Amino acid sequence: MSRIEHTQCDGSWLNLRWSDGAEQTLFATWLRDNAQTPDARNPANGQRLIDVSDVPEATAFQAASVAADGALDVTFAPDGYRSAYPAEWLRAFLGDAAQTPARTLWAASHTIVARTYDEATADPAALADWLRAVARDGIALLRGVPTESEAVFRVAGLFGYVRETNYGKLFDVRSVADPTNLAFTSQGLMVHTDNPYRNPVPGLQLLHCLQSDAEGGTSVFVDGFQAAARLKREAPDAFETLSSVWVPFRFRDGEADLQSRSPIICVDDGGAPTAIRYNNRSVAPLDPGEDVEAFYTAYRKFSDLLRDPAGEATIRLGPGDCIVFDNERVLHGRKAFKQASRWLQGCYADKDSLLSKLRILDAETNR
Ligand SMILES: [Fe+2]
Repeated sequence: MSRIEHTQCDGSWLNLRWSDGAEQTLFATWLRDNAQTPDARNPANGQRLIDVSDVPEATAFQAASVAADGALDVTFAPDGYRSAYPAEWLRAFLGDAAQTPARTLWAASHTIVARTYDEATADPAALADWLRAVARDGIALLRGVPTESEAVFRVAGLFGYVRETNYGKLFDVRSVADPTNLAFTSQGLMVHTDNPYRNPVPGLQLLHCLQSDAEGGTSVFVDGFQAAARLKREAPDAFETLSSVWVPFRFRDGEADLQSRSPIICVDDGGAPTAIRYNNRSVAPLDPGEDVEAFYTAYRKFSDLLRDPAGEATIRLGPGDCIVFDNERVLHGRKAFKQASRWLQGCYADKDSLLSKLRILDAETNR
């Protein structure tokens, strides 16, 4: 591990030189706001105990040096406040420490990672591998889940909590005589993300197959981030339009009227996709004053990419299979099937719990 070799402060700015030659420039108010003292940080959970208004507006450096243990020792002006900063804590901000799990984009040739329910419940390392696949690929399969009603809750309980909605904690997907929702028929279903009319949108969807005697009924999954990357390559203007035009989504029945607005492709400050919201059934009419011509050109192009078999991973879920996918990244649909017995139970859960569980399991493994 590299050491801090040299410090030089001037007013509000501090320069550090590290033993491997790396240079770091730090702002006094940033360091003071991130003071590592017991009165500024809860020693047990690391939560900040001060507000920015507690930091003097005229904060500057009075002195900075390297302590015997290698930490940076800072005294701030104007009030002489002191805090030490561990070298490894500072080093993490040089950008050479990965903060988020890597993401792998995929297309039709993708083999969905599968583990068994028994492995995931008995072996923390197997559970971590399976959760990592969800984080990395946006989708993974668990086989051998008991074919009992509500067993999908046990899968959610491996990493988090069920997100209850107006549909209840659980939804059944099966053939019914008089469907009010297209999901409950035997027709094919265009790939989509669920519930874009909610805020927040459910982060994860779990689908557990209890019965499947039907011919067909193959489930289809498409990596929306891969499709977005392809759109950006092939039609950058369309990508720009779908990531900047806000689209209204709505669901209404006798008991709920859910509405939300969002771009179809949400992006972060670096322009990388963070979420896909695509559901032809719940897009409400766009404001006709928007640039609707450019929007429809872009929307049609993205729809074409999402329907391209080159991006489709297909799987026929059998009894005991539970598929888990990132509902803000991986679109799901199904091929048409004959009216016969097919019964899935689904629920929603949140991604933050899954990622938290993965970090905890990894920390335990590396201990
Ligand atoms: Fe759906």
